[in-house]
Amino acid sequence: MKIAQFSNYGKPDEVIDCIDVPDLDNPGENEVLIDVLACPINPADVLNIEGKYGVKAKLPARLGAECVGKVKKVGHLVKGFKEGDIVLPLDRENWVQQKIVDEKNLIMLPNDIDPIQLSMLKVNPATAYLMLKKYVKLQPGDWIIQDAANSGVGQCIIRLAKMEGIKTINIVRRKELASDLKDIGADLVIQDSPSMASEVKELTNGGDIKLAIDAVGGDIILRIGECLVEEATILNYGLLSGKNIEMTSYQTVFKRLVLTGFWLMPWLQKMNRKEIFDMYNYLASLIESKKLYVPIEETYSLEEIKKAVKHSAAYNRSGKIIITPNG
Ligand SMILES: NC(=O)c1ccc[n+]([C@@H]2O[C@H](COP(=O)([O-])OP(=O)(O)OC[C@H]3O[C@@H](n4cnc5c(N)ncnc54)[C@H](OP(=O)(O)O)[C@@H]3O)[C@@H](O)[C@H]2O)c1
Repeated sequence: MKIAQFSNYGKPDEVIDCIDVPDLDNPGENEVLIDVLACPINPADVLNIEGKYGVKAKLPARLGAECVGKVKKVGHLVKGFKEGDIVLPLDRENWVQQKIVDEKNLIMLPNDIDPIQLSMLKVNPATAYLMLKKYVKLQPGDWIIQDAANSGVGQCIIRLAKMEGIKTINIVRRKELASDLKDIGADLVIQDSPSMASEVKELTNGGDIKLAIDAVGGDIILRIGECLVEEATILNYGLLSGKNIEMTSYQTVFKRLVLTGFWLMPWLQKMNRKEIFDMYNYLASLIESKKLYVPIEETYSLEEIKKAVKHSAAYNRSGKIIITPNG
């Protein structure tokens, strides 16, 4: 079978390779052998290859934060899964044709949903869901502001917020994205500018903004901070600009803005199995009813992994890059 692997940290399309390894055949008694149907390339995967992620892999390393798979064979003590079931593995190293997973690390998924949409269930929808639910108590009619709003996470935030009646101010780098984002429920779409605070004040009629969700970092936080009410929360979950967050002392001391971070991995570690199961079932039901949907720019085979990671790093993408390891 084929797998994607990197042996040195560095520029993703230079250090990643598709290699052949022996096929898998015999899952252990509590294990499940799955064929991987689809996996997205996430910015976290790219950070991982660059050696900039929160945990460092022992090299050479497989990678891939998420995938969706189809059960091929089960161990003799496995009760919850059978051949043909569609499953979400909760572990990593998913850019492979086949993998063996302990049954307690698998979530059963409906088998009639587009596997490409399901392959993006584990990370971005859960990130958007937890960031909206677990930090600031929001009521219908409240405003939030986010940057990188056309990203996979950003689009999930727009859609989930809309379902709850929460209004979104969405900062994008490209003005031409406004109508697409409004079509999926964005209330306002703006671009970063020195006059962001006065523009937002005018567009929201002076509405209070208690939550900012940021994937960019750097100096945009100075301008987002000006849009927020006193004691508002800034939730940083990405480092797309590659720069450290900047805030003024006025914002931290006198305005008492609270800056905190979100990382999905520890959240999943501290949630119990039922909470994880309920969250993913709920989010899968939203994918099934097409209330959650992320556009796809292109799909690649595992053999084309170098091309795929290069494409995923490109500016101006219209959607996610997906790998379909088994065609
Ligand atoms: N903390 C967590 O647990 C967690 C979980 C999931 C995702 N994330 C993070 O969330 C972010 C989005 O992930 P995703 O999978 O949703 O991304 P994605 O769908 O691959 O989209 C990438 C987005 O990043 C934007 N972008 C790239 N470089 C930028 C820069 N220098 N300044 C501003 N925007 C920039 C792109 O804008 P253009 O379209 O204009 O190029 C696009 O909107 C990433 O930082 C990722 O690491 C974190």
